[in-house]
Amino acid sequence: MAKQSEHVVLAYSGGLDTSVAIPWIKEHYGAKVTTLLVDVGQEGETRDAMERALLNGAYDARTVDAKASFAEEFLFPALKANALYQGIYPLSTALARPLIVSKLVSAAREVGADTVAHGCTGKGNDQVRFDVGVHTLAPDLNIIAPVREWNMNRPDEIEYARAHGLKIHVKPESPYSVDENLWGRSVEGGVLEDAAAAPPEEVFDWTGHPDTWPTDPQEVVIGFEEGIPVSLDGQRLPPVALIQKMNALAGKHGVGRIDHVEDRVVGIKSRETYECPAAIALIQAHMALEALVLPRELRSLKTQLEPKFSEVVYGGFWFSQVREAISAFLDSTQESVTGEVTLRLLQGGSRVVGRSSPYSLLAKELATYGRESTFPEGAAEGFIHLYGLANSLAYVRRRSGAGAPVGGGNSVAKTALSQPTTP
Ligand code: ARG
Repeated sequence: MAKQSEHVVLAYSGGLDTSVAIPWIKEHYGAKVTTLLVDVGQEGETRDAMERALLNGAYDARTVDAKASFAEEFLFPALKANALYQGIYPLSTALARPLIVSKLVSAAREVGADTVAHGCTGKGNDQVRFDVGVHTLAPDLNIIAPVREWNMNRPDEIEYARAHGLKIHVKPESPYSVDENLWGRSVEGGVLEDAAAAPPEEVFDWTGHPDTWPTDPQEVVIGFEEGIPVSLDGQRLPPVALIQKMNALAGKHGVGRIDHVEDRVVGIKSRETYECPAAIALIQAHMALEALVLPRELRSLKTQLEPKFSEVVYGGFWFSQVREAISAFLDSTQESVTGEVTLRLLQGGSRVVGRSSPYSLLAKELATYGRESTFPEGAAEGFIHLYGLANSLAYVRRRSGAGAPVGGGNSVAKTALSQPTTP
């Protein structure tokens, strides 16, 4: 049920949808509209976009540079989770939404607005993330979602913009819906909707044309401290600069192209394409370092929780007790995730070719096949007997029935069963 709105803060990108939303909200809700452009590392001129918002009737146009908090408070926690939704998608869009929500809510509080608005369609995940986020952080605020309400297609929107004399950024007509931030670029729609057809080269931007991918490999050394990337090839970089540089470097070699079918929150499957060079490269490197330093049982538990983290975040529950609890656990695992990983970038892929850490649990004197080995090989036989005992017993019992003789000559199961048990 639509409540009364007087002042709306609109999450604004400068694109067609949210430009048209300005006069549409004024017309349909009689409210004044303040636009908020949250910079999460997308391309595009924010100053131009703000000017256009004002020309198109915004009461006020604001922007906030959220790149650093995006990297530190959202992307690095996701990296600690090696977060890949359904094992594939690094959640680039999904991670930006809760941040945009929190900025939207803060702006609404600052200007005393009673309503927030977003440009999401009624078919995607983003509306869910926005609405759930606002309901959680600011249940008193109304939400308007013009694109979900107005029933206009793109030509209708262009016509509406013309009729209202709007200044819109006329880009060459693109059939694709694109979302960008530091962690990746997502492209949907147009011919991509045919899951059987290969994505045309034109959908890619950050990864260049395969003809331009260098034929020689390039190695990059990523330095981590407590699970967080801090340097590239020995050069210390702040989070945003590091991610941007990694995007450029890995993107140049075509790393991070993703083409898959994804299950959306709203119950549909859709074909999705992404370019996430830095995300893919950093997750790969982070996993390799964890493999070197985390004890086996901890890795096992952590890898069970990782998909849960991704599902929770994908599903719009960044601001939740379950996400915070998983993050607290993940943080506690990262103390020893310090060291360096060498990645080799080549022709659309990256491979880990080296890793080192002061906390390495790979003890050469134990693992080596050389003479210097200190591994107590003599203890192996007895260990294996006990290790396999319960399994051998169960296997034999199941095949031969209760009471059947157990095992062969040196079977521990046999020996163990024939020993009188001591009280
Ligand atoms: N499928 C992705 C997600 O739900 C990306 C959606 C991005 N939106 C877009 N307009 N391309 O997180």
